[in-house]
Amino acid sequence: MTLTFALHPPLDLGLREEFIRLWTDASNAGGAVGFVPPVTVDQARAAAEKHFAGLGPGCPDRLLIAREVGSGRLAGMLIFEDMRFPLMDHWRLLKLVMVHPDLQGRGYGAELMGEAERIARGWGLSALRLTLRGGLGLEKFYGRCGYTEVGRVPAALRVAPGDDRDEVTMWLDLR
Ligand SMILES: CC(C)(COP(=O)(O)OP(=O)(O)OC[C@H]1O[C@@H](n2cnc3c(N)ncnc32)[C@H](O)[C@@H]1OP(=O)(O)O)[C@@H](O)C(=O)NCCC(=O)NCCS
Repeated sequence: MTLTFALHPPLDLGLREEFIRLWTDASNAGGAVGFVPPVTVDQARAAAEKHFAGLGPGCPDRLLIAREVGSGRLAGMLIFEDMRFPLMDHWRLLKLVMVHPDLQGRGYGAELMGEAERIARGWGLSALRLTLRGGLGLEKFYGRCGYTEVGRVPAALRVAPGDDRDEVTMWLDLR
């Protein structure tokens, strides 16, 4: 199986539901995308609405989705978030980078990040930035995608009482 990508697809009701389901499933499988499991669909829906607001007509954020060729299922996604600050208009923040837990470990995450880089270069951006939750090995994943660790705030994320994780910033220079 391989992936087909769509940038800034129409955010119709069907895609909104797929987005919410993917986020819920990835979170409940232990993914570090804003939640600590267990997460309900309703909790993901409430959080998703904030992202949908930034993806609407005239808004500057951009959704990238990956579908599996053949099944057509939503395999992964990410958002390019615009900082809405002129001094930071030359880069974008990647948010909600995820692959469905059934499909992880097949190279789809790396493909998704490669497509994001290709798009960013096409836009003429200078860099991509993202933050991650420490303790899961994600630095290695993004490192393989070419990103460099440029910042680490110790114990900034409290995922449970007594379980604080570093918030790590990664940067991909495109110049
Ligand atoms: C992180 C994520 C996007 C990676 O996608 P994936 O499809 O599983 O990754 P790939 O199969 O493309 O893996 C690419 C490489 O990264 C490595 N890798 C993937 N996930 C990793 C992890 N969590 N820790 C360490 N290495 C990892 C793989 O071993 C592989 O290395 P290899 O080329 O030597 O085999 C996916 O696991 C995911 O959606 N996780 C849940 C959500 C999440 O936590 N997102 C991160 C938000 S910052």
